[in-house]
Amino acid sequence: MDLINTLKQKKTKGLPVWIMRQAGRYLPEFRKLKKKSKGFMNMVYTPKIASDVTLQPIKRFGFDAAIIFSDILIIPDSLGQELTYEEGRGPILREMNIDQMISDFSINKNKKKLLLVYEAIKRTKKKLNSKIPLIGFVGAPLTVSFFMFDSNKEKKYFKILSSFKKNKKKISKLYKLLENATAEHAIGQINAGAQVIQIFDTWANIAKGKDLNAFSINPIKRICKQIKKRKPNIPIIIFPRNVGARYGEYIYKHVDCISVGEDIKKKEIKKIQKEKVIQGNLSPKILLNGGKKLENEIKKVLNKFSAKPFIFNLSHGIMPKTPVKNVKKLVKVIRNYKNEI
Ligand code: CP3
Repeated sequence: MDLINTLKQKKTKGLPVWIMRQAGRYLPEFRKLKKKSKGFMNMVYTPKIASDVTLQPIKRFGFDAAIIFSDILIIPDSLGQELTYEEGRGPILREMNIDQMISDFSINKNKKKLLLVYEAIKRTKKKLNSKIPLIGFVGAPLTVSFFMFDSNKEKKYFKILSSFKKNKKKISKLYKLLENATAEHAIGQINAGAQVIQIFDTWANIAKGKDLNAFSINPIKRICKQIKKRKPNIPIIIFPRNVGARYGEYIYKHVDCISVGEDIKKKEIKKIQKEKVIQGNLSPKILLNGGKKLENEIKKVLNKFSAKPFIFNLSHGIMPKTPVKNVKKLVKVIRNYKNEI
């Protein structure tokens, strides 16, 4: 339970490590199972497959946490914007405009799909060593809404955000819906057995100035508040990717840990570690390339953060071409480090 204890800022024997997208294409056993399954969405919505995939990296590397195999885009799917997945192109949500979304979405429309995730969580918990906590997750409204208006193109996100600013009333209605559905889904995962929740805001850095408050910081805080009101003992990790000098603005009483990127400044580290736990922040590229540099960079990360409660992770998801042996090395270096000090 090193992960949970660290999140609660209690002393631990080891330093917890897990990696974002730890269940994925860099694993030969994932690729094999994917070949046998009928596509990515089928993997996500078949509890046995989702559960088996969740356990794969735990069996291989002995990480300190499992994260349920799922996706942030199942929230729009559950609200009535169908999600498909095209090999080589990624996730695609049915084209809808904001008026259709506001009038057609309902929390109960496709709830059945979310129940499949809860079933996968229950299955996983039965098989997982009770010392290894299971992380449930959701996407933050900003990142999820970018995909709702257009999938997977960074340049277009700026355009989408400026259209949000012209449609403030409608957007705030849509965000309210998303926030409620997202908090509800986090609570559903907790009821099924998830012991930690991580909120992904991968595209937070598209919003600048006051927009970051309106579209990322405030919605995340409202979601955390809703979750904690009903589940006060479940720690929450937030991942507002690459917000640089503004990580500290995400400090909030209902947030336990901030997952940071390589862009974190000394001043922000100090500010966060006074109150909250940091998770991060090794570059996925360094992990991809391996070698002596990998070892040095892991140690740099540990030296930078580990004087205070700290969770070792990457600055973003692991890259699909990463050699398994590099991940093995990562876990080994971290385990040894704790013995050295
Ligand atoms: O961390 C884990 O192991 C849990 C599983 C997980 C997935 N997606 C599985 C997945 C998590 C936490 C996510 C979150 C997610 N999904 C985010 C936020 C975090 C991030 O990495 O940015 C986003 C933006 C999505 C939406 C999404 N899903 C995209 C843009 C893509 C295609 C791009 C890509 O990485 O391939 C996916 C597909 C996806 N989700 C895969 C996995 C393992 C790849 C599926 C495959 O092609 O085999």
